[in-house]
Amino acid sequence: MFFKNKRRRDAAVDIPALVRDSGLCHIAFIMDGNGRWATKRSLPREAGHKVGIESFRKIVKYCFNCGIETVTVYAFSTENWSRPKREVDAIMKLLDEYIRTAEDEDEENRTRYIFLGDKTALDEGLAKNCEVLEKLTERYKRTLNIALNYGGRSEIVKAVNECIASGASAVTEEDISKHLYTSLSPDPDLIVRTAGEKRLSNFLMWQSAYSEFYFTDVLWPDITDRDVDDAIIDFSKRKRKFGGIKNA
Ligand code: IPE
Ligand code: IPE
Ligand code: MG
Repeated sequence: MFFKNKRRRDAAVDIPALVRDSGLCHIAFIMDGNGRWATKRSLPREAGHKVGIESFRKIVKYCFNCGIETVTVYAFSTENWSRPKREVDAIMKLLDEYIRTAEDEDEENRTRYIFLGDKTALDEGLAKNCEVLEKLTERYKRTLNIALNYGGRSEIVKAVNECIASGASAVTEEDISKHLYTSLSPDPDLIVRTAGEKRLSNFLMWQSAYSEFYFTDVLWPDITDRDVDDAIIDFSKRKRKFGGIKNA
């Protein structure tokens, strides 16, 4: 009975219209749960990252098809270097493969790729591939931000140091925003985290000041378009006030 109702409700919802009417311009994902997905199946954690990359491809495409203009994904944090080398190497290799094929796959989608994070700590080849992809796609408006070797605190420190280096003795909020890796994107309207954890883990700390949050227990490799629909439906019911009085 419940199942039937749920199906009927979902079939009736026009997701692109909800995206438009709710002003959902920027969605961000903390793609968590790859390791647990693999462990549950007695597979090495790397297997979870491999399937996780496929979810990433699929979900980004779906979000763009729903009319969302900016998608951001948390792919690797500054703290993730503390994982075993074997796992880190596997993640970097998968990301490199993705980055090298992203533009070919994307021919009709016309997406601008921007990497958030410090590229200097990445393998030289990977850093170069990131730069090439950014350059190749810089004329497009629709944006996919990939946070890779990204940390929210170090991003803010970097921004302040850049302001100081340019001669500032004091900084404004606008100055800092302009020097963040995300300077070309609006702040995220909605941040989705999978795998049940309810924390930011150093993701978009500055930019999330007024973001809405959506948490799901679904592990990232298991995520489906329908889970994204659920997040969008939930978002569309939120009353965002930005410190003011709604409808005043
Ligand atoms: C997220 O999945 C991917 C990265 C952090 C690179 P995890 O690898 O954190 O998966 P869990 O949290 O261990 O299940
Ligand atoms: C956050 O997930 C980083 C990414 C998804 C890339 P983690 O799995 O690293 O976060 P914690 O350790 O659970 O906070
Ligand atoms: Mg995790």
